[in-house]
Amino acid sequence: MALRVGVVGGGQLARMMIAPAVELGVELRVLAEAEGMAASAAATAVGDYRDAETVVAFARDVDVLTFDHEHVPQEVLAALVDAGIPVRPGPGPLRFAQDKLAMRARLAELGMPQPDWAAVAGADDLGAFLAAHGGRAVVKTPRGGYDGKGVRVVRDPDDAADWFEAAQGAPLLVEELVDFSRELAQQVARRPSGQMRAYPVVETVQRDGVCAEVIAPAPHGGDRLSAVAASIGTAIAEGLDVTGMLAVEMFETTDERLLVNELAMRPHNSGHWSQEGAVTSQFEQHLRAVLDLPLGTAEPVAPWTVMVNILGGPEVGDIDGRFAGVMSEHPSAKIHTYGKASRPGRKVGHVNVSGFDLDDVAYEARAAASHFD
Ligand SMILES: Nc1ncnc2c1ncn2[C@@H]1O[C@H](COP(=O)(O)OP(=O)(O)OP(=O)(O)O)[C@@H](O)[C@H]1O
Ligand SMILES: [Mg+2]
Repeated sequence: MALRVGVVGGGQLARMMIAPAVELGVELRVLAEAEGMAASAAATAVGDYRDAETVVAFARDVDVLTFDHEHVPQEVLAALVDAGIPVRPGPGPLRFAQDKLAMRARLAELGMPQPDWAAVAGADDLGAFLAAHGGRAVVKTPRGGYDGKGVRVVRDPDDAADWFEAAQGAPLLVEELVDFSRELAQQVARRPSGQMRAYPVVETVQRDGVCAEVIAPAPHGGDRLSAVAASIGTAIAEGLDVTGMLAVEMFETTDERLLVNELAMRPHNSGHWSQEGAVTSQFEQHLRAVLDLPLGTAEPVAPWTVMVNILGGPEVGDIDGRFAGVMSEHPSAKIHTYGKASRPGRKVGHVNVSGFDLDDVAYEARAAASHFD
């Protein structure tokens, strides 16, 4: 009988697990939030992931349950564990991907390099942090943020007044405003039995808080950067007992230090390049890891791969109306679309191009993606 993997969440990450599941002969089942979501091709159920009964019923006859997002509440995760369902990653590690304050505290215990940070309960605390950090800082809502929502640069203690009010006494996270030269991401796959595979560290480019582009591997990396990034990634995967794919977002500072920004415990936008750019894509690797199967090689298959997100989608017409043009002009581009309607800033697809010359590869990927504007 086929191995069965259940995925909570019907977004594009679940969608992109479908192809490798089919290739392996793994049965993928998806609990989608609504009909017609990105992963509708594998959606076997529609329901509320915040409802324990719904999720437990969905997961009853899968071999392992995993996730497209980190938002499944701890009470629901506990109910799954109580029902004897293997949940990977488990509730313990997932807490650190759900709550940025919990993550900062745990990373500090593990001795991981990170920006100066504090939990702040109001304007007085924030004022003290600002005074100690040159009058500028970044305030974050500990939970529920994505694509830069829940992240705000502040210069005055009152700049976060609305968030403090909404938090109703719960603390917010404040961090030093890091003077970074660029952002990087390190992915590591880890099995329950402990085997790990580290992907090459990549450079990520954010625009308006949203990932726009990824260059794999990170240019001008060198052995030291790769080794330090991989050691941070594997130390976190092990220290937090992560199973499946882990992405560690990092800042490279102008004085060449790496600081951990945040964690994702699932396939991640920074790893989409691996679909055509690595021997084992992050989506196949995630399935292997959560099933506790031996992990595949994480090596690149070409010197460079550039991934460019399709953000927003066409203002007029449909995404597939642009296919003929982009395919004839950029035959080396691999196009991935998520079946989502156009909306300003929304991630609706991406393009991967691999090759030998970084300038050529980046040019092709950007030019191909721009057909979808
Ligand atoms: N302490 C910081 N100093 C400087 N820039 C920061 C800091 N924290 C976040 N940023 C910037 O804001 C972006 C979004 O921050 P973060 O990754 O914490 O938010 P998010 O909304 O959870 O993101 P994601 O889209 O990855 O889920 C970062 O990629 C970085 O560009
Ligand atoms: Mg981020």
